[in-house]
Amino acid sequence: MLGVLGTALGGTSFTEVDSPILVNNSVHSTLVSKANQTKGSVRKSLKFRKNNHKPRLLITGGSGFMGGILALEAPKHWDTYATHRSSPPRYGDSAQWIPLDVSNREMVEKTLSLIEPEVIIHAAAVTDSRICERNPDTAWAINVNGTEHVADAAKKIGARLIYTSTDMVFGRPGEFRAEKDPPAPMTTYADTKYRAERIVSSLAPGFIIARICLSYCYSSNSARCFTEKIIDDLAKGVPTRLFVDEYRTPVYARDVCRILLEFAWRDDLSGLFHVGGPERLSRYEFGLKVCRIFGYCEDLLIPASLDEAVFEYHRPRDCSLNSEKLVRELHFEPLDVEQGLADMKTPRKC
Ligand SMILES: NC(=O)c1ccc[n+]([C@@H]2O[C@H](COP(=O)([O-])OP(=O)(O)OC[C@H]3O[C@@H](n4cnc5c(N)ncnc54)[C@H](OP(=O)(O)O)[C@@H]3O)[C@@H](O)[C@H]2O)c1
Repeated sequence: MLGVLGTALGGTSFTEVDSPILVNNSVHSTLVSKANQTKGSVRKSLKFRKNNHKPRLLITGGSGFMGGILALEAPKHWDTYATHRSSPPRYGDSAQWIPLDVSNREMVEKTLSLIEPEVIIHAAAVTDSRICERNPDTAWAINVNGTEHVADAAKKIGARLIYTSTDMVFGRPGEFRAEKDPPAPMTTYADTKYRAERIVSSLAPGFIIARICLSYCYSSNSARCFTEKIIDDLAKGVPTRLFVDEYRTPVYARDVCRILLEFAWRDDLSGLFHVGGPERLSRYEFGLKVCRIFGYCEDLLIPASLDEAVFEYHRPRDCSLNSEKLVRELHFEPLDVEQGLADMKTPRKC
């Protein structure tokens, strides 16, 4: 338990300490899994144990929804660099902000060799399925080539790469897919993310691929997640149509960030991990929980079916993931949706 606390007090270095991310997590301490409580912490950081410094982390896509939360959390334990492209950098927090276009190989190489991070969390991507469908070349240049540039440059400087992928790689019907199940991407977005997974697994030694499910939390920047849009509408009394037949395993974004940071610390882990919440819910069921926790009127939610809707891209009906491997190997169980929404609602100083 000394971890970073010990270092901050002038005590031990990282020698002989466990990862601080999940161990010293006071907000979460009452909610950690039984596995975590009973097995105790056995995590070890191999690479950083002998170093008496904060290891250096680079977050690509720091100006995005997930990257923004990561860039707030990471500096507690990491010397943190975060990238932005079209969005402005966020001044005033402890991460150092740098511009980066991952589709530019030379820029990626120069940036990585200048910063020399020990770990890179690659969260830069075009994530809007409609934009990817309309601009497949751009989606490919950023999601596939951009990831290749990052993976190549990471290999050259010996940095570990943590790649953020998506549950959307499962485009065909099916429930609670595990890591061994074969993906079937059905959209340009999913296809580019899956291609990038394969590049990462072939290029980046010690890589982690985190296939993340639909994530919810308040954003720390101008990015807006699905849940914030629902809350905005409900707060204004605007009726909201939600699908009763589109299933996900929603995961609290602050949990996702804790997990990604734990992966960053744990160089004894590698490979593919599903990162989802414990419940399989339709968007409508999720909306009902939002109403319950935030105190909005459920009558504002209008049940709708995917069969009645027209999209210019394929919407997978069920991208629910089985995340048992994550719970088993990380000893961390993401919150269920009501716990996550309750934590989201809790005012906090960021
Ligand atoms: N949020 C979710 O529910 C969810 C679910 C599954 C998987 N994921 C994965 O998690 C990662 C982060 O998602 P997110 O929701 O945070 O996405 P997001 O809010 O759309 O943010 C995307 C980020 O990528 C950056 N970016 C776009 N093009 C770039 C380029 N050419 N070079 C460098 N940076 C570029 C954006 O920078 P600017 O804004 O500055 O241009 C932004 O910081 C993605 O890999 C996504 O596939 C997210």
